[in-house]
Amino acid sequence: MSISIQRMSACIARVLLSISLFAVSAFALAQSTSQPAAVSADAPPRLLLVAAENFYGDVLAQLGGEHVTVTSLITQPNQDPHLFEASPSTARQLANARLVVYNGADYDPWLPKLLAASKAPQREQIVVASLVGKKAGDNPHLWYLPETMPALGAAVTAFLIRADKTHQDDYNARLTAFLASLKPIETKIAALREKYRGTPVTATEPILGYLMEALELKVSNARFQQAIMNDTEPSAADIAAFETDLRQRRVNVLIYNAQTSDEMTRHMLKLARAAQIAVVNVSETKPADISYQAWILSQLNALEQALAGPPK
Ligand SMILES: *[C@@H]1O[C@H](CO)[C@@H](O)[C@H](O)[C@H]1NC(C)=O
Ligand SMILES: *[C@@H]1O[C@H](CO)[C@@H](O)[C@H](O)[C@H]1NC(C)=O
Ligand SMILES: [Zn+2]
Repeated sequence: MSISIQRMSACIARVLLSISLFAVSAFALAQSTSQPAAVSADAPPRLLLVAAENFYGDVLAQLGGEHVTVTSLITQPNQDPHLFEASPSTARQLANARLVVYNGADYDPWLPKLLAASKAPQREQIVVASLVGKKAGDNPHLWYLPETMPALGAAVTAFLIRADKTHQDDYNARLTAFLASLKPIETKIAALREKYRGTPVTATEPILGYLMEALELKVSNARFQQAIMNDTEPSAADIAAFETDLRQRRVNVLIYNAQTSDEMTRHMLKLARAAQIAVVNVSETKPADISYQAWILSQLNALEQALAGPPK
């Protein structure tokens, strides 16, 4: 059971090593690339925006439209984002960005370190956790908190208007459209809450924690979920409690985070299947070819199917 601890220390060591390497390369880059990105004479310059996670990047693109170029750093739904390692191109992108958006609350601690290592006077930053009053130690999966995207939309639009006043009307219109596009999610949450509040469910990782709260579902095994998120070993008692919930069918649904899976979570998945408990697969990172809104709605639809149970 100490294997996981060793694995974690190795990961942290790798992250620290890569960060110290970037501190050096970011400094070198700042010397050579301090001028804004080249633009052709007839095209207006686009604002370069960087998002740590691709669901925030998608929102930046929706709010900025043709006036911005957006780069997202975490884009792979098949890698554990809690253990992300930045690549050399990351430092370059951060050095040239006008705005950087990252989650905060210790989800992406490598990013503020890289920002500190490559100072850029033209660059602003938005920490999503600060917008919604969350901090390290709180559940970091803030893109499932219903308040987050309206708050981010307002903050990003304020930045865009500050940086590019000529297109103020367009930015305001885009924000209005963005806020309207979140309504189907709010409506779905309200409908599911009305029908299923109090239903017992569990999860391998606290990814949907804020959504579960909004739906007023009864979620068990919080400590087990935290241990998986932290990449540490759950206690024997927490494992036993999880197993009992599944074997005795004390929960109606298992939320399974395939992106932070390991031997332990796969064991729970097997138990859920054996007990014929509905499983909802979710991921931390948005698949490439779907908008943030469509992605969240598809997860709510899958959850609804699971909560409704097998056809009678
Ligand atoms: C997970 O890590 C956080 C932050 O380091 C800590 O506060 C929490 O107690 C840990 N939880 C578990 C179950 O490992
Ligand atoms: C859910 O994820 C598990 C493990 O990754 C996989 O075996 C299963 O086929 C997935 N189920 C659905 C419905 O996608
Ligand atoms: Zn997570």
